[in-house]
Amino acid sequence: MSTTCGLFARYGAWLRVPAHTRPLSLCEGGTPLIPMPRLAQRLGGGFDLYVKFEGMNPTGSFKDRGLVVAVAEAWGRGASAVICASTGNTAAAAAAYAARAGLRAVVVIPQGKVALGKLAAALAYGARVVQVQGSFDDALRLVRQAVERFPIALVNSINPYRLEGQKTAAFEIVDALGRAPDWLALPVGNAGNITAYWMGFTEYHAQKGTGLPRLLGVQAQGAAPLVLGRPVPRPETVATAIRIGRPARGEEALEAARASRGRIIAVPDEAILEAQHWLAQEGLWVEPASAAGLAGLAAEIHAGRLDPRGKTIVVVCTGHGLKDPDAILHRAPRLPSIPPTLQALEPHLT
Ligand code: F0G
Repeated sequence: MSTTCGLFARYGAWLRVPAHTRPLSLCEGGTPLIPMPRLAQRLGGGFDLYVKFEGMNPTGSFKDRGLVVAVAEAWGRGASAVICASTGNTAAAAAAYAARAGLRAVVVIPQGKVALGKLAAALAYGARVVQVQGSFDDALRLVRQAVERFPIALVNSINPYRLEGQKTAAFEIVDALGRAPDWLALPVGNAGNITAYWMGFTEYHAQKGTGLPRLLGVQAQGAAPLVLGRPVPRPETVATAIRIGRPARGEEALEAARASRGRIIAVPDEAILEAQHWLAQEGLWVEPASAAGLAGLAAEIHAGRLDPRGKTIVVVCTGHGLKDPDAILHRAPRLPSIPPTLQALEPHLT
């Protein structure tokens, strides 16, 4: 399949993939970089704030960037099936790109801990969905074992082609701003994305001298192995996408944060939900995990550890709110129910 849109069309020359790779596309990438002046004011003002809204990808998360490349490589080498462990978004993206290529997809998810829209997406795209009585980390251990015994391609971010795809988000930010931002804040779960962003920024900088951002990686307090310095056996957070206790690319993530003169921090669930609400007040609905970057930025600014003045800061919102409607509905007030008369509607108009 030749591609006229998407990552291979736009950044194909930058992707280090084997010659057998067979490009495909759902026109992923090209997501908006949205100015957030009012939100910057809320955080104290005096700086330029942007949201890179990755929820605008075809399956509603940044995972499409990684999966399009990982599936293209697997497809080109003749694989007939792909497998991943997932908190949900990887599953949806793997299922969609496998469908596009005509491959089977098996997704292994932690039972009861995957947001509704993600589960529905994986099923809609025709994946075989297996629930594990355990965590994401258990699911990842299982799929690693499975690919040693069975001819099925692993498409978690241990797969290097995932990072090749995901690094293109850094290219897009630099292409939009004309240079790298001063800070990039983003959620960290299995730690592939922060690793990929750093690859993207450093590769562009090496070729074009576009500068390097400082990275602020943000974990949820109940699932913060990179902040604690040890695995978390039973991670827990409202941000189910990053409910991960043993990140596969943890070492690289810490190294990326260090090399960038940034850091990885943890924020409580309440701060994540508050940041989700702030974004919604700007017209952006993101899933809870996606708001962690903003929550972390706000915490660092308020604590006086990050001086934003005069800076350009990009917050990555990794996935769309539509993926996790329960996160909103669980907290929604009881809705009024009225007979169909104007009189009954009237009290609700002010
Ligand atoms: N934000 C969202 C919405 C995610 O789905 C994930 C990871 C992350 C952030 C963290 O990215 O793992 O590269 O550090 N979701 C994975 C999944 C684990 O299975 O969908 P990371």
